[in-house]
Amino acid sequence: MLFPLKVISSKAPETNNGSDSEPILEPEPLPEPTPEPIKEPIPEPAPESLEATFSSIHKLILVPKCASCHNPSSIRPREDYTDFRSTLTTGKIIPGNAEGSEIYKECSSGNMPIGSAPLTATELTVLKAWINNGAQDN
Ligand code: HEC
Repeated sequence: MLFPLKVISSKAPETNNGSDSEPILEPEPLPEPTPEPIKEPIPEPAPESLEATFSSIHKLILVPKCASCHNPSSIRPREDYTDFRSTLTTGKIIPGNAEGSEIYKECSSGNMPIGSAPLTATELTVLKAWINNGAQDN
């Protein structure tokens, strides 16, 4: 790429006495790049502000991210995650064993929720802790 050049020395080469014969050439300054708009970070609740309880799981995960498909009137999937009783009777949660629970496995592998962003690390931590603490109605 060629930069437009401008002579900034006052002396033209032919009027020079020969001691500093070369005119000083400097490229024209390039226009300032437009700064990128600053993107606001999406706030994520700190794990310590969340308790590993069913009400946290329900409010944070099950209702906003699962219940649109997993609800009492859905035929497929049949599992209903809209309340504690239904969620537990799916058999997809083994109290005390998150790693063995289908709900945790499906979410940590990214299979669920279908069609939307996978659960965040915080959500997975809270889900895992709630199951490992016995998957209580709390
Ligand atoms: C867009 C719809 C949709 C959403 C949202 C969704 N699921 Fe599913 N889920 C399905 C379908 C469809 C199946 C398959 C059911 C079947 O095979 O009968 C399924 C199956 C499952 C299974 C059973 C897997 C198995 O083989 O035992 C689990 C567990 C599950 N989903 C958990 C979740 C959880 C937890 C969420 C929320 C984080 C969620 N899903 C969100 C549609 C959805």
